[in-house]
Amino acid sequence: MTNSGTKKTLFVSVVINKSKINNLFKEEIMKYFLDSAKMDEIEEAYSTFGIDGITTNPKHIKESGKPFLKAIEDIADFVKREGLSGIETFPVSVELNPNLIEADDMVKQAEKIASISDNFVIKVPCIEGGVTAARKLEKEGIRTNLTLVFSPAQAIWAGRIGSKFVSPFVGWKEDNGEDCRQYIEDIVQIYENYGWLGNTEIICAAVRSPKQIVDCAVAGADIVTAGLQVYKKAIGHAYTTQGMKTFKDAWDNTVGNN
Ligand code: E4P
Repeated sequence: MTNSGTKKTLFVSVVINKSKINNLFKEEIMKYFLDSAKMDEIEEAYSTFGIDGITTNPKHIKESGKPFLKAIEDIADFVKREGLSGIETFPVSVELNPNLIEADDMVKQAEKIASISDNFVIKVPCIEGGVTAARKLEKEGIRTNLTLVFSPAQAIWAGRIGSKFVSPFVGWKEDNGEDCRQYIEDIVQIYENYGWLGNTEIICAAVRSPKQIVDCAVAGADIVTAGLQVYKKAIGHAYTTQGMKTFKDAWDNTVGNN
């Protein structure tokens, strides 16, 4: 073999082994989080589909019809009742007041929120004060979810500072006409390159369709977060409905079945 041939073989082997090593740290199944603060949706999604965690944001809290504290305390009670204590068992992302943009103010509110439940992860926006705050909070042992992420460059910050989660938004971008497959693949690839997979989990956020769930799974994202209706839609297919009718007709017209 020529010298350049040997170099090429060595390079390929190093790349494959690095990817195999990184995969050891990956969860085997892409997790499904529910994006909601409504207790009826949370209870249904947990009891029927076994969702793996919850993400909320100020919009979801508003839609719950409750004040912020009451809404998150109700979720904390639910988690306790179900015996799901702990971030590793059932993480619940709670977003900071978006009026806060200075790191110190964010840290203060995050400490208060985190003291309410062992399941709470603090959602911090990917702005300068947010990255500074998230870095401090992670050092204090308060886990964070770097949110409102719309580019791989922003996602790198979460890996660098050791956030528990990073939330690259998919739905908002695709609603705006952007195809997100490459964007999610790039984030997963970057996380593989630097050994962040497993340390900072990638939550593809604002997922709006079964197609987007598939894109995230193909890219190797750790988690998707979506509304209950999106998960229900991903169970169905027009041919499944048609097939059920065809088979029902056959069953009902089989000799001896009636
Ligand atoms: C993510 O964590 C956010 O809560 C969420 O996905 C925001 O998107 P929405 O527009 O679907 O609420």
